[in-house]
Amino acid sequence: MKHKILVPSILSGFKAKKLISFFCFLSIAAGIYLQLLPSLLLKQITDEHIVPGIAQGVLSLAFVYLGAVLLSGAADLIKQYTLSRLTQSVIVEIKIRMSEKLRHLSIFTIQSKTSGEWMSYFSNDVDTIATLFTDDILTLIANLGSMAAISFTIYTLNPAVAFFVAAALPILVLISYRFNILTFRNQLKARVSLSRLNGWLNSRIQNTPTLRFFHQEADQLEKMQAPLDENYRILNKTNFYDSLFPCIMNIFRGLVLICFLLYAKQDIDSGGLLSSGSVVACVNLLLQLLAPVEAIAMQLQTIQEAASGVKRIKDFENLEEEERAEREINGGGAVIRCDDLTFAYPNQKPIFDGLSLTIRQGERIVIQGKTGEGKSTLMNLLTGLYAPDKGTVSLLNKDPFGMSEEERRQSVGVISQLFLTRQGTIRELITLNDPAITDEQLKKCCKLVKMDEVIEKLPNGYDSLLAPGSNALSNGQMQLLALACALIHEPPVLFLDEMTSGLDAESENEVFEVIRQLSQDRTIFTISHRYSDALNPTRILKLQNGRLVTAE
Ligand SMILES: Nc1ncnc2c1ncn2[C@@H]1O[C@H](COP(=O)(O)OP(=O)(O)OP(=O)(O)O)[C@@H](O)[C@H]1O
Ligand SMILES: [Mg+2]
Repeated sequence: MKHKILVPSILSGFKAKKLISFFCFLSIAAGIYLQLLPSLLLKQITDEHIVPGIAQGVLSLAFVYLGAVLLSGAADLIKQYTLSRLTQSVIVEIKIRMSEKLRHLSIFTIQSKTSGEWMSYFSNDVDTIATLFTDDILTLIANLGSMAAISFTIYTLNPAVAFFVAAALPILVLISYRFNILTFRNQLKARVSLSRLNGWLNSRIQNTPTLRFFHQEADQLEKMQAPLDENYRILNKTNFYDSLFPCIMNIFRGLVLICFLLYAKQDIDSGGLLSSGSVVACVNLLLQLLAPVEAIAMQLQTIQEAASGVKRIKDFENLEEEERAEREINGGGAVIRCDDLTFAYPNQKPIFDGLSLTIRQGERIVIQGKTGEGKSTLMNLLTGLYAPDKGTVSLLNKDPFGMSEEERRQSVGVISQLFLTRQGTIRELITLNDPAITDEQLKKCCKLVKMDEVIEKLPNGYDSLLAPGSNALSNGQMQLLALACALIHEPPVLFLDEMTSGLDAESENEVFEVIRQLSQDRTIFTISHRYSDALNPTRILKLQNGRLVTAE
């Protein structure tokens, strides 16, 4: 299955802002028409008042001229405002749909790319689509409309000037296009060098204790010098092109005007079609014409770049999604059961081939085994994080892989080896932002794991922020928070993966003591390298070469 992203986002983005879409298109059309008015009024003022020397009525025409200029500016303002609102609406839709899609991708698809790659889908690639809207497609249409309307008006004033314009325009587009490519390439390079700097800073901050321990902070600073110099060089180049471009365009603009005025003088001298008013109007229109031409050159270039962003979002859209369907399975009265389970990570040899296990209500199972033997993998299969390649898994008589997120959270509490790498306030880490969980539930749960007093003593209590690697709480206390997170919905089954690794024997016993007290009505599946009497297991199993055997 594949969730569509791009087209539905654009349609619903526009649909959500119907009135704004209407005003956007209206302002584009009005803008095209209104920008012609000042030039035509100038022609009228020159031909009917200034040349014959009739002052009467000039003032009111001057006010109409001023009004037309103001209205044209207002149309432009409305266009920009409505366009940016529409773009935001579309971008929000795209990001929501992308997040939704991410939820339906398999863990292995997500792990097949680096976090930087995923971030660039959500930032750079979506941003190119934003520019496509604000600066490109709709504005391109508006600019093409302006060019056509201005050219046509020039044609009605004097066809020869229109042909002259037709010859000059391609040169102008070419110069603008060339400059835009140079500037854009440099901007791209600046972005890459900036992201290198950010990456460096990120890893530098996250690894501060290690770097300081090994006296490597100064070395790290030296490493920063090179990307900084590169960034500085690129920015200099971009600024140079940015300032050169207007100079060249001004020279070109001057040349066009000189050529036109020379032609106009000759036309008037020989009694041609041009009136003085037409000359004034043409000068005005020519100057107006150059703005959309320069903009179009830029847009053609960014549209090309945006096309790569659109392609990347399309690639994202085409990622294959997991099918999760709710399925009742006969667990034969067992709380956890798997039959003939076969599983391999993508492109690897199977870890399990025909594994079976039955765990009954109230059992406390400890799974042991060497590192890399597949203990965490087994837990991920039994809790429905992965789907088996063959065989069945049943958790409370349901297929855990097909369970809804809500049902899974109510049925099992899981402590994985990865809890410590998350970031958030204590409240967020325990409740996972579930608004249905009350403060009383939170406090009760923390009391259960004997963390209530520790948390309440912190300056911000339950709202204390815990960043990865922060030392506000000890490792053992963090493990107890993980336990609170697993227990908050009081699930009947608990899965604990190496939750006491890294703890001293005394703290480990305290944690196991908490678990033992909690285990009265619960079924507990624990992965532990070390055996502890405090856990009082009903069975100890050893995972060996993909098989579960009873430990001696
Ligand atoms: N996401 C993954 N993609 C590919 N291979 C994986 C993935 N996760 C684990 N493996 C591989 O599967 C094997 C079993 O890993 P698993 O984490 O289940 O072992 P474990 O018994 O829990 O080890 P430990 O005691 O160190 O936690 C390992 O060889 C590991 O490299
Ligand atoms: Mg493990």
